[in-house]
Amino acid sequence: MIRREFLARALSAAVASAVGSLGVRSAFAQHAGHDMHDMSGMSDMSDMEGMGDMHGMHDMAGMRGMTSHAAGASDAGVALASPDALPSGAPLATLRRLANESSDPGTFRATLVAQPVRRQLMPGKQTQFWLYGDAAQGPVAGPLIEVHEEDTVEIRFVNRLPQPSTVHWHGLPVPPDQDGNPSDPVAPGESRVYRFTLPRGSAGTYWYHPHPHMLSAGQVYRGLAGPIVVRAADDPLAALPERYLFLTDLKLAADGSIAPNDMMDWMNGREGQFVLVNGARRPRIVVARDERWRVWNACNARYLRLSLGVNYPFAQVGTDGGLLGDARDGLTELLLAPGERAELIVRAGQWPSQTALTAAVYDRRKMAMGPGGLPPDPARALADVRFAPASAGGSGAGAAAQPAPHPLPSPLRTIEALAPPAGATAPQKSVVFSEEMDMAAMHRPGATMHEMPAGMKFLINGETFDASRIALTSRSGEVEHWSIENRTDMDHPFHLHGTQFQIIDRQRNGKRTPEPYLAWRDTVNVQPGETVRIATVQRMPGERMFHCHILEHEDLGMMATLKVV
Ligand code: C2O
Ligand code: CU
Ligand code: CU
Repeated sequence: MIRREFLARALSAAVASAVGSLGVRSAFAQHAGHDMHDMSGMSDMSDMEGMGDMHGMHDMAGMRGMTSHAAGASDAGVALASPDALPSGAPLATLRRLANESSDPGTFRATLVAQPVRRQLMPGKQTQFWLYGDAAQGPVAGPLIEVHEEDTVEIRFVNRLPQPSTVHWHGLPVPPDQDGNPSDPVAPGESRVYRFTLPRGSAGTYWYHPHPHMLSAGQVYRGLAGPIVVRAADDPLAALPERYLFLTDLKLAADGSIAPNDMMDWMNGREGQFVLVNGARRPRIVVARDERWRVWNACNARYLRLSLGVNYPFAQVGTDGGLLGDARDGLTELLLAPGERAELIVRAGQWPSQTALTAAVYDRRKMAMGPGGLPPDPARALADVRFAPASAGGSGAGAAAQPAPHPLPSPLRTIEALAPPAGATAPQKSVVFSEEMDMAAMHRPGATMHEMPAGMKFLINGETFDASRIALTSRSGEVEHWSIENRTDMDHPFHLHGTQFQIIDRQRNGKRTPEPYLAWRDTVNVQPGETVRIATVQRMPGERMFHCHILEHEDLGMMATLKVV
């Protein structure tokens, strides 16, 4: 593809100039196992003391020492920890919970502190995470916020990080001024209260994470992200036991520190050598009866094509915004783009057996330093799953003695198609993703490929994010049709704040595929060359963000503001 070739060449040239004597080929080869650049001057970047400089990470001049390291790049690269440096095989951890300090029914009141926390995950090495809650023990993710429809939620956020931060309630219909927009930062040492009331019908699987201007990726990859479950009064699946799988990505240096982003991380979105499930590598799950799983993809950039293997079909019963109308049964895989969630029914089966929950190969067309792009990652086991149906084995009872699989109610709920009132037409909006590489910026003296590389642009409607610009304006209560077109060469997950939308259809290679079922979502993957059409409505005036949920792209400016009037 012409654009991809051009991009690859632009990057090759820029990297060659940035790393001096180090050839592109060897720079690329090194990336396979290590970071490409010498970050030794930044080894304390994950420590509080070193973070003062991070604040200006978009300001290349602020990255002292970087150019000199780049010039002498023969010792390039932070050595990364080996992919098996973290222990595996422990039972799936129970998530920490954010305690409700209120005894009034209908109120959830709590304090959420973001702070550096030192933990030992790798034997003999300390890692400094940034976490919500004291987190001296328990998963290095979370805590879980469990609330109910119609609850009033009042969360005091205390920022003990060395950077400004916000808390964004991903997917929840909270007022714009309570949604942790980048324009509402909480300064280091400060606090604020986020307050909102959850409407009826909002039951579902959400999450929260920081959203400060240009600092979201770094805060999330240091550990700041947690799950939210909103419960319904009348949940048709309430009888099933629930299991939560909160998936995050971790990239550790050999010394145990959280490795900084290198240029490939900025370009493609960061993928570490570890995927954690509830804060641990490859845990063990025992399924003794049919279960409802809630799964979050809280990775910065990793796509998760989830599978239990072809012999272990499961049902999907929910998306980002809660239950489907009808279960989608018999699935053997489900793609969760960064930011997406799903509710699944995993059946215990009739006989003991075991398998792995796997992220199967998915080619999201990552870019490379040379022509052709990077190959997709190989499949990866995320967790080991053992099926031990309660009544199996024992006396050798036959199949007739087994309990019937839990029947799924139909419908699970009623979802109406989101449409303008009869006789009206929905206003149309267009969102176009594109990419642009600015050779001049890349070659400017002193430009480096560290942190946010100058000249690497991911655009929405031809622009990078500018806090002072309103990209689109919508009227509160008005159902609109948006088309999201991906003119780049890689996948990007589109995310819109403040509401849940429905997919109408997807068009690619001249073929239009109507979405086969109704579902509420706040994030949808858009493949290269694809246009996804959605129906959406905002119900509260104010400013909302929409962006690519590869957090590095968001920080690089692949984000825009929707004003709701
Ligand atoms: Cu989870 Cu603006 O994002
Ligand atoms: Cu969001
Ligand atoms: Cu993107």
